Amino acid sequence: MCGIVGAVAERNVSAILLEGLKRLEYRGYDSAGLAVISLNDGLQRCRAQGKVAEVERKLLDSPLLGHLGVAHTRWATHGKPSEKNAHPHLSSDEIALVHNGIIENHEPLRKQLQAAGYVFTSETDTEVVAHLVHQIYVQTQDLTEAVRLATLQLEGAYALAVIHQQQPNELVCTRKGSPLVIGVGIGETFCASDPLALLQVTDRFIYLEEGDLATLTLTEQRIINQQGEPLHRPTLQWEYGNQAAEKGEYRHFMLKEIYEQPAVIAATLEGRLSDSRVLPQALGTVAMELLPKVKQVQIIACGTSYHAGMVARYWIERLAGIPCQVEVASEYRYRDVVVADNCLFVTISQSGETADTLAALRFAKNAGYLGSLAVCNVPGSSLVRESDLSLMTHAGPEIGVASTKAFTTQLTALLLLTLALRRANLADPKATDAIESELVQALRSLPNIAEATLQLDTQIEAMAQDFADKHHALFLGRGSHYPIALEGALKLKEISYIHAEAYPAGELKHGPLALVDSNMPVIAVAPKDDLIEKLKSNLQEVRARGGELYVFADPDSFLEPEEGMKVIHLPVVHDVLAPIIYTLPLQLLAYHVAVLKGTDVDQPRNLAKSVTVE
Ligand code: M6R
Repeated sequence: MCGIVGAVAERNVSAILLEGLKRLEYRGYDSAGLAVISLNDGLQRCRAQGKVAEVERKLLDSPLLGHLGVAHTRWATHGKPSEKNAHPHLSSDEIALVHNGIIENHEPLRKQLQAAGYVFTSETDTEVVAHLVHQIYVQTQDLTEAVRLATLQLEGAYALAVIHQQQPNELVCTRKGSPLVIGVGIGETFCASDPLALLQVTDRFIYLEEGDLATLTLTEQRIINQQGEPLHRPTLQWEYGNQAAEKGEYRHFMLKEIYEQPAVIAATLEGRLSDSRVLPQALGTVAMELLPKVKQVQIIACGTSYHAGMVARYWIERLAGIPCQVEVASEYRYRDVVVADNCLFVTISQSGETADTLAALRFAKNAGYLGSLAVCNVPGSSLVRESDLSLMTHAGPEIGVASTKAFTTQLTALLLLTLALRRANLADPKATDAIESELVQALRSLPNIAEATLQLDTQIEAMAQDFADKHHALFLGRGSHYPIALEGALKLKEISYIHAEAYPAGELKHGPLALVDSNMPVIAVAPKDDLIEKLKSNLQEVRARGGELYVFADPDSFLEPEEGMKVIHLPVVHDVLAPIIYTLPLQLLAYHVAVLKGTDVDQPRNLAKSVTVE
C-alpha cells in the first residue's frame, strides 16, 4: 500500500526516484509524484493521477533537477485517487513529505493545525503530518527533531520520508508499522519501502526497526529511537541478485511467474531433503528443539496465503496428527482468543509486511504461544525479523499483484513443515518412516510434474474463450482441494473482474445449486483421491440442472469430456501433493480470461501487492 523512495546524492536524483517508483508500483498505482530540492531552484514537485508513467510523461516536458528528493506511488486510503491527493505533500512550500500507512488521529490533528492557520489542499491524512512537521520545525529549526517530535503525536502506521528546503543536504525518514529500508551507496544514500526499489543503485541495506528514525546524508546514516537515543543497525549485503521487474519474453509478470513455478518449487526444496526425509536442520536448530513440544498449530494469514494455510491444515492433521486451526488475520486479531497449551503460532505471508498478519503476530507474542514461525518470501521483512523461526520460500520477487509462485512455494514449504512436525511426533524420531520417504520422493518429482502441467497451457487458453463473456463462475473442490477452488476463484475475480465463488462440492445442494444454469460455468478440481466418487456425484447435480462443467482431473478419475463437460487431464501426482499441481491450471485459466477481457493483468484495479494498511 503505497511505495516511497528517497535519495540524497551529488548527482540529479529524479531518474533514480522515478526508477524506484516503477519498481514499487506493485504497492499502489493510482497516482504518483516526486519532489526534489536543488541549490538553484529550491523545492519543486511533479505529481499525476494514474501510474508512474504519467509522472514520467510530465517530467519529459518539464524536467526536475535536484540532488535531494522524495517520491511516492499511491494506493488511496484517505481521499480519492487524484493529483491533489497524490504525494509528496508540501507544507509552506518548504517541506515535502511522502507517507505509507494510515494516520488514525488525523482528524484532531487537522483541526489543531487549521486553528494554527495551516491551509489544507488535499483530503489525505498525510498532509496533516507535513504541516505538523513544519509547525514543529518553526520552533526547532532542526528537521530530524521536528520529525521525531511529530511522530510522538501520531497514532497509526507510517513510513515517512521528509525533506526541507532549508536543510538541502539531508533526508529524514522513519517507520512504525510500515516497512522502510535504507540503501547505502558510495557517497550517496537512499531509502525505500522495499530494497527492490534501490537495487539499481546499491546492494547494501539497513533495515529500520519499529520506531527508528534516520537522518541520511551523502555519507552518513544516523539512526535514533523515538526518545532521540542513537542506535546501531547493521548494514546487510543483498544476496538475492537484481532480479527485479524484468518480464523477459513474457507479456505479463503474472505469466512469467506462473512459468517460474517448477524452478522456484525446486529452489524451495533445495538443501532441505535427504533421500528419505526432511533434513532436521531445514527449519534451523531452534526448530529442532521447539517442534517436539508442539501439540497444536494456529495458522494466520490473509488472501492467497490464507488459502495456503487452509491446505496446510489438512496436511498437518492428516500427516502429523496435530490439531490445527486456520484463521484470517483481520478476524483473529480482534477476537478473544483461547490459546491451547503448546500451540505453535504460524504466519504465512509472501511479503512479510501485511499489516493484519503482522498485528496478529504482535498480539500472539504475548498470548502464551509456544513460539512463532513465519513462512515468508522476503528475507529481512518485518514478519521474519519479529518471528522466533522462519521458513523461507524461495520464489524470488513476485511482481504481479495476483499471487502465483508465492502460493505454490508456500504450499511446498508448508509440506516440509508438516513432515518436520510429523517426525518430531514419532515415537522414535530417528526411525525410518515409510510415509515420509514416499512423500520426499514425491516432492522430488514435483518440479517435473509442474513443468508437464504447464504444457497444458494451450488447452487451457482455448477453454478460457468460454469465460470471456460470463459474469459469474463457481469453483468446486473437496478436501484439500476446496482451498484450491477458493484460490482459483480469487485469481479469476481479482484479475478478470468476473464474480467467482468457491464451495466445498458437498455444500452445493445446500444453497448454491440454485445459481446453476447455462450462464454459470462450474469449474471442478478433480484429482483422484478418496473423495473423487463423491465429487462426481456433485458434478452430476450440476449437469442435471443444465450447468456447464469445466473439469481438471486425473486420468484415473475416469472423467471424460462429454456434452456439457470439458475435461483437461493433468499429469498423475501423489494425492497429498495434488493441491500444488491443481493450482497451476486455475492460475492459467484466470490469466487467459483476463487477457481476453483486456484487463490490467499485473496491476488489477483497486488492489495493491503489499497490503501494509489495515
Ligand atoms: O503478502 P501476503 O502474502 O501477506 O499478502 C496477503 C494477501 O494480500 C495476498 O495473498 C493477496 O490475496 C494476493 N495478492 C491475491 O492474489
